[in-house]
Amino acid sequence: MCGIVGYVGARSVVDVVIDGLRRLEYRGYDSAGVALVFNPDGADSYLEVDKKAGKLANLEAVLAEQDRSLEAACGIGHTRWATHGVPSDRNAHPHLSADGRVAIIHNGIIENFGQLRAELEATGVEFLSDTDTEVAAHLLGREYAVDGDLTEAMTRVCTRLEGAFTLLAVAADDPDTVVGARRNSPLVVGLGEGEYFLASDVAAFIAYTTEAIELGQDQIVTISRADGITVRGFDGEPSEGKPFSVDWDIAAAEKGGYDTFMAKEIHEQPQAVADTLRGRIDEAGQIVLDEVRMSDQDFRDIDKVFIVACGTSYHAGLVTKYAIEHWTRIPCEVELASEFRYRDPVLDRSTLVVVISQSGETMDTLMALRHAKDQKARVLAISNTVGSTIPRESDAVLYTRAGIEVAVASTKAFLTQLAACYLVGLHLAQVRGIKYADEVSAILDELVAAPGKIAKVIEHLEPVREMARNSAGKDRVLFIGRHVGYPVALEGALKLKELAYLHAEGFAAGELKHGPISLIEEGTPVVAIVPSPRGRSLLHDKIISNIQEVKARGAKVIAICEEGDAITASHADFVIETPATPTLLAPLLTTVPLQEFAIELATAMGRDIDQPRNLAKSVTVE
Ligand code: M6R
Repeated sequence: MCGIVGYVGARSVVDVVIDGLRRLEYRGYDSAGVALVFNPDGADSYLEVDKKAGKLANLEAVLAEQDRSLEAACGIGHTRWATHGVPSDRNAHPHLSADGRVAIIHNGIIENFGQLRAELEATGVEFLSDTDTEVAAHLLGREYAVDGDLTEAMTRVCTRLEGAFTLLAVAADDPDTVVGARRNSPLVVGLGEGEYFLASDVAAFIAYTTEAIELGQDQIVTISRADGITVRGFDGEPSEGKPFSVDWDIAAAEKGGYDTFMAKEIHEQPQAVADTLRGRIDEAGQIVLDEVRMSDQDFRDIDKVFIVACGTSYHAGLVTKYAIEHWTRIPCEVELASEFRYRDPVLDRSTLVVVISQSGETMDTLMALRHAKDQKARVLAISNTVGSTIPRESDAVLYTRAGIEVAVASTKAFLTQLAACYLVGLHLAQVRGIKYADEVSAILDELVAAPGKIAKVIEHLEPVREMARNSAGKDRVLFIGRHVGYPVALEGALKLKELAYLHAEGFAAGELKHGPISLIEEGTPVVAIVPSPRGRSLLHDKIISNIQEVKARGAKVIAICEEGDAITASHADFVIETPATPTLLAPLLTTVPLQEFAIELATAMGRDIDQPRNLAKSVTVE
């Protein structure tokens, strides 16, 4: 969380920084601020800081009132997701050192800030904010005063900080330098012609360059028009980052005619899932996962699977458990990353830990992966973000290729995670010879057909919108499902909670009678995810009973069911049909109406779809 940008180059610094912040606002939008260094001809250079609580637009309004006749020489900008201190002007970044000579911005949490603050206060430093970041500003100012070298000063400061941090700093009397540092938090460098960018994410500079450098753990980078880029470790030793090219362009980071990024991303799902599958199934029907860096023998050696993730990615993991256990007969557990390492799970060399993370930066998931590696388990990352920390630290990686997802509420990330997880499950089944080849091949055919079916679901969303609008006045919405429909119910409820700020809850349909059914009163909307009446018809019959139970207590039932399911149609108040597909693959289709339901209901309630309150897309704190 928190988006950070730094720039040196010939373009309008303030424009580049604000443009970058706009593209990073998904990372946090509690406040925003910039620090710009000006270098007027024949005069001393100086630093100006502007910051404002609320969304970036508030800061832009402040900047619009200023004299723009002089261009800054370099600058940094920050968009905040509050951790220490309420969202306010004073807690907004950048923060200044006591002498006002350096300005700093920060993403992460400085865990020993209390001790450092006490130490600084004991020497007479007066704090102007409640943030953990301000200790870094004062320490940096103090070190900078020693030799006037911002890189050296940052190096010394980093050795004093504990926790997770990306820091960017500028100094009033050094108009050609921005210094960055990273530990457990993302930072990438953008390389232009005589211009350099630092940012939490390539989205910030994709309008200007697709060439980038990924920084490693505990590295410090200095960008300067005169001297280019230098990278060193926290130990001061010269180092280097890893160059890469970004394979998407600015159009992907725009709304492309949709009202919201989320609407755009829902519509991108057929293509995104097709991209996940592309080139990973060969003509002989074998799944080819060469890129994951795990041999067939590695897959054969596995005797237990853990899937570890948060939020929507955790729901993808829950679906995957059903698939992996059914297809491979290997026991599979799914864990919330934030709980995983604290309960001392039983892991060893033959355990495969699959970590799922769209951003590749989620701190809870990163810490779980490190724990798994400490216990000698093999870690496979499923991620959407090339070069991010989680794939980098994993033994193996399968990228989902969803393209940039800007809306805070995950949509295409979820569907592509499912597709990637299905590939892993089917690959395990193939290399272990558990399933007959023709069975795997039949499922693969269905998987390949999924993008077309998702497109069909998207074409017929108008009835969902109408039902969502009808539910707008309600104070709660319940979601029920069985088998893979249960995680879909959880995901539908999560989408509605985060977008509409409504009490929405997902339940295993059979569990309702053990307590939650008391939530139902006259008119309560209950969304039921109904499995196909073909195949596991027992499941279908059971959920029909559950539908009857809630209807008997006044619920209005919206059923998501397979096309032609006359039994469900005769019991539910409203029906949304999805194309027929095998039960285990059904979440690829049944989730989509729930995404649209959430977006429409939240829109009817006047909510901010892409940036719901209190949230950030990339959660880089524990
Ligand atoms: O980047 P990750 O997949 O690790 O993020 C995990 C969750 O924070 C994320 O899925 C979150 O729950 C979504 N924004 C929900 O829509």
